[in-house]
Amino acid sequence: MIRALVPLVVLLAACTAPVRDDVEDGTGPITFVDGPDTTAGGQVRKLVDRWNAQADRREQVAFVEMPNTTDGHRAQLAARAQDLEDVRGGPDCYDVMAVDMVWTAPFAAAGHLVELDPDEFWVDRMLPEAVEAAKTPDGEHLWAVPWRSDAGLLYYRTDVLDDAGVEPPTTWAELRWQASTIAPQHDLEGYVAQLGRYEGLTVNAAEAIWAHEGDLRHPDSAQAKEGVRALAEGVAQGWIPHEALEFNENTSLAEFMAGRALFMRNWPFAGPRLDDGESSKVVGRWAAVPLPGPSALGGWNLAVSRCSAHQATARRFIRFVTDVENQRLMAQRAGFAPTIEFLYDEPGLVSPELRRSLLGARARRPSPHYDVLTSVMQESLHHVLEKPDSVDESMDQLADDLERAEQGR
Ligand code: GLC
Repeated sequence: MIRALVPLVVLLAACTAPVRDDVEDGTGPITFVDGPDTTAGGQVRKLVDRWNAQADRREQVAFVEMPNTTDGHRAQLAARAQDLEDVRGGPDCYDVMAVDMVWTAPFAAAGHLVELDPDEFWVDRMLPEAVEAAKTPDGEHLWAVPWRSDAGLLYYRTDVLDDAGVEPPTTWAELRWQASTIAPQHDLEGYVAQLGRYEGLTVNAAEAIWAHEGDLRHPDSAQAKEGVRALAEGVAQGWIPHEALEFNENTSLAEFMAGRALFMRNWPFAGPRLDDGESSKVVGRWAAVPLPGPSALGGWNLAVSRCSAHQATARRFIRFVTDVENQRLMAQRAGFAPTIEFLYDEPGLVSPELRRSLLGARARRPSPHYDVLTSVMQESLHHVLEKPDSVDESMDQLADDLERAEQGR
């Protein structure tokens, strides 16, 4: 009897023994923070579970999900990093942070991140644009590892367009026409997108501007004004619902998923969500094509915080998350666009539409002051969407404001 108990006692002792933090060799438990896990079936959490199942007990990862969109996520991470500026270790440190590609340069410039060795993470096999956004502007230093890439797609209702006998739009003029004439015949909203006052608005406005041959460096050009006017008039004419001025990725997805909209601009994570019969009313009745114009290049990087006491584990975790097998699984299950280039050649892994959208995707307006630039843009663009008459005046003003912000004034 006593002999039979021994293994149990040993097992219990093993389970309750305190985890030893060995700061010397940089291994120990870590915290990983990401935005809300909006993937179908919680794939980010499952990814962390996979790590925890195979990792040493001393190197377990606690997953923290931020409730916010990318801007709120950034603000919270930056505030915490600031608080912990002179701290090494401790429960408040987010050892590994998922950082939107557009915040990586400002984060590195603020000194929140640890420099990484490109060879340790095999970044030379990753998409060059994604790697570039994870480096300092001179390309000398790597501050994060590209985890997933992102490019926009135009989701549409196949049943409705088939019924109308038309192909999905390839230009804004076609989009406007279909959204304003076909959608109402089916009692649907025309087009939903991310037009709330946050980073999603910068992205959507940039795409409308590029589709009209403008660019973000010259928001006062006739072409850029045309692009912004196309969005603003859509709201004024009603084929973009006024509620979209509050929408982010998730709320616009909820609208399309409930079967209330003909078109939606969103990122590829939306695909597996639309196929999920538990919550989606449009299973089997949707498809996606590239946007009617270039997409903004999106994506998220993984960075190690300066405050981390367990940087060896943090780096090992990042290697695991960004390895071939996990990127493949996340592409299959979460719809993520991989950052490893050769995965785009694997038959059936990445849809041809996403591939095309990514290949043509453009950077926003890269700058170490990006956080200031985008907040200036968001304010002005949101105002314009409420007041289409103000396009000319507001975009002229925006050009001046951006110039000043770029110079750090
Ligand atoms: C997606 C993109 C990211 C972008 C954000 C805007 O998460 O990956 O780059 O900034 O959407 O909301």
